[in-house]
Amino acid sequence: MTVTIIVGAQWGDEGKGKITDILAEKVNLVVRYQGGNNAGHTVVVGDKKFKLHLIPSGILYDSCVSVLGNGVVVDPEGLLGEIDSLAKEGVSISPHKFKISSIAHVILPFHRALDQQQESLRGGNKIGTTGRGIGPTYTDKISRRGVRLLDLLNPSRFKTLLEQGNWSDVVPQSGLTIDSVWRHYTELGQRLAPYITDTSLLVNQAIDAGQHVILEGAQGTFLDVDHGTYPFVTSSSPIAGGACTGVGIGPNRVNRVVGVAKAYVTRVGAGPFPTEQCNEIGTLLQVRGAEVGTTTNRTRRCGWLDMVCLKYAVRVNGFTDICLTKLDVLDEFKEILVCTGYRFPDGRIIHEFPLDYDDFAQVEPLYEVLPGWQSDTSGLTDFADLPPQAKHYIQYVEQMAGVPISLISVGSRRNQTIRLIPIETEGK
Ligand code: GDP
Ligand code: IMO
Ligand code: MG
Repeated sequence: MTVTIIVGAQWGDEGKGKITDILAEKVNLVVRYQGGNNAGHTVVVGDKKFKLHLIPSGILYDSCVSVLGNGVVVDPEGLLGEIDSLAKEGVSISPHKFKISSIAHVILPFHRALDQQQESLRGGNKIGTTGRGIGPTYTDKISRRGVRLLDLLNPSRFKTLLEQGNWSDVVPQSGLTIDSVWRHYTELGQRLAPYITDTSLLVNQAIDAGQHVILEGAQGTFLDVDHGTYPFVTSSSPIAGGACTGVGIGPNRVNRVVGVAKAYVTRVGAGPFPTEQCNEIGTLLQVRGAEVGTTTNRTRRCGWLDMVCLKYAVRVNGFTDICLTKLDVLDEFKEILVCTGYRFPDGRIIHEFPLDYDDFAQVEPLYEVLPGWQSDTSGLTDFADLPPQAKHYIQYVEQMAGVPISLISVGSRRNQTIRLIPIETEGK
């Protein structure tokens, strides 16, 4: 039995979808533990590219059951749309294969309208949210006035919750009425009913039966509402600790915590990013890495790998190992920079992530310059075949991070993967 948590080590889009898909090959259950359809995970299988938002990346294996845990926020319209579009791609989603927690909170159209209204009121201080209603839905959850999936199945209680909701500001302009939302979402609840169950019970029973389970995070460590670059974060807990509350399992059941990190860094939306390269280096990373958001089509901001951040991610998540993705994107660079510390304007130097975002916004990165390899790594599957400079880069990152790199990804396809730990010993 292994229980593995997969966590983004940066600001999201690290390639968690590809890594979950790779590690899910021999797994019985893949469970998403937080976030909603703000996520966008691209998984490439053969010639097909699947864009997943809410449905866990394990769905592409017939043998795997995919689960949305209680920590996820569910947009029923978005989810049913995703189920339909996967069906068109030949991926059937039956209630045997897909389960949703009855106590996951529901994103209503009013939450989307509130998200967009709150962003416009922020003026020049926008967070750059995905506009999917994530923040307002989690706000209602924490304020104890949220609507859960089990409420959609109880029409009179759902009506009362809608009437007590905190959306008088947006009801007129959204063009919706409480009554129309009640009717429509009661109907959507009925369509989702076959999938809705007690997923904590299901996952714990699976673990008890010796099954292999992956707990899949969305977003990334620096978007975590507690440990990220607050307030430029999402409204949930992508870090490993969030997996236990978001699924309903005890921490003693987890064997492995995998951090997924790009060989460089990207960020979508606003907020400080010390190693960002607003120059031809950033453009080359953006173009070679095809760094365009899966959910909002926004161009991702790009910069060099930041070891101060990665070491912090190792610390707050307790990574047992790291999967390093998109190494191939660095193939053309003559020199590769890695940030090892920060300097404040007054000359002070630090090597730990500063918690005050004003500090983080003013630091200048200190770099180690490593030689590039300037050759194509995208066809390699064996560490021994990597150019010496690429091996040196990987070993340098591994040594600085203080945990082993277990897998290197050199392309979006399943076979563009270099495994450093044999699959049969994973999680042992
Ligand atoms: P996620 O949100 O963490 O799952 O990441 P996304 O799917 O949003 O973004 C990662 C993108 O990089 C996707 O388009 C993947 O197909 C692609 N990708 C994943 N691994 C690699 C890799 O090693 N090399 C390259 N070039 N692309 C990759
Ligand atoms: P995946 O799972 C990258 C960012 C948004 C914004 C902030 C808050 O694909 O890695 P929200 O809509 O969540 O309230 O927006 O978080 N963000 C992501 N950035 N990848 C994601 O997901 C993201 N999900 C949210 O851009 O800055
Ligand atoms: Mg993504």
